[in-house]
Amino acid sequence: MIPTGKARLAGVMGWPVEHSLSPCLHGYWLDAYEIDGAYVPLAVAPEDFADALRMLARLGFQGANVTVPHKEAAFQVVDETDDQARHLGAVNTVIVQEDGTLLGRNTDGFGFLENLKAAEPAWTAATGPAVIIGAGGAARAVVAALLGAGVPEVKLVNRTRQRADKLASDLGGAITAVPWKDRASVLSGAALLVNTTTLGMTGYGALELDLDDLPSEALVNDIVYTPLETPLLAEARKRGNRAVDGLGMLLHQARPGFAAWFGREPEVTPDLRTAVLETRGQ
Ligand code: ATR
Repeated sequence: MIPTGKARLAGVMGWPVEHSLSPCLHGYWLDAYEIDGAYVPLAVAPEDFADALRMLARLGFQGANVTVPHKEAAFQVVDETDDQARHLGAVNTVIVQEDGTLLGRNTDGFGFLENLKAAEPAWTAATGPAVIIGAGGAARAVVAALLGAGVPEVKLVNRTRQRADKLASDLGGAITAVPWKDRASVLSGAALLVNTTTLGMTGYGALELDLDDLPSEALVNDIVYTPLETPLLAEARKRGNRAVDGLGMLLHQARPGFAAWFGREPEVTPDLRTAVLETRGQ
C-alpha cells in the first residue's frame, strides 16, 4: 500500500547501497501484510555514518539495517548491543527504542541457522563436526552461531592461518584452525561444510576443494548466492550430498528487524525468494 503520513519508516545504510536486496525484501513484506510503512535505501558515506545513524530517531525512523562498509562503525555508535553483535564486533540491525536510544543487533548468525533449519528440518548442530572455509566477518557469524547451537567441533580452514587462529581465540570454544593445504582431508567425518569465502561468486576465483573425503550424509551450504547454484553446491549435489544455497540466509537475517520496526513476524516464502531473485536479475 502507499505510505501515509503516519507510515513507519526503516531503511538500509550502505556505501554504495544500490546493490542491496533489502529494500526489495522488506518492501515485499510491507505489501504482503498491507502495512503502512516504507523501507528505503540510504546511501551514506563513511564520514557521515555516525551522524546519520544517530539521526535516525530524530527523523522518525524505527531503525535501519547496516551493510558494508558500516557494520563495525555501527557497533561503536549504538547505545546497546546484543550478545551476537558483541561476539562479532559488528551490527547489521539497529532498532530505535522507546526512549530514542539505539539497540544494535547482529542477525547474520540467526539468518544462517534459520536458513539451514528451513531447508533441512532434520539437521541439528549437534549431529557432528562442522568444517568452515574462510575466517572473515561472515565466518565469524557462522562459527558463533554454530557454537551457540551446540555443534561439537568447528574445523576452521583459511588461506591466511593467522586469521583463523585469531577468530578461534576471539570466539573461544571448540574451534580448531586447519591449514589451507589440508582443506580436503579435514572433510572426513564432517556433518556440515560451509563456504564463507567469496570463492565461487560470479567474478571471483573458484573454490578448489576435493569433496572425496566428505561423508555422503553431510550437509553443504554456501554463503555465496550469486550464482545461486555455486560450483561447490553443484558438485555436492552430484555426489549425493544435501546442499543449501545462501539466499535464505539473507532472507532470514531480515526477519528480526522487520518484526521490531513494523510489528509483525514476517515469513520467508517461495514467493519472496522469487521476488528477490527477479530484482537481482535486473
Ligand atoms: P567477509 O567479511 O564477507 O567474510 P572478508 O573479511 O574479506 O569478507 O573475508 C573473505 C574470506 O575469503 C577470507 O577468509 C579470505 O581468506 P584470507 O583471510 O586468507 O584473505 C577468503 N578468500 C578470499 N579470496 C581468497 C582466495 N583467492 N583464496 C582463498 N581464500 C580467499
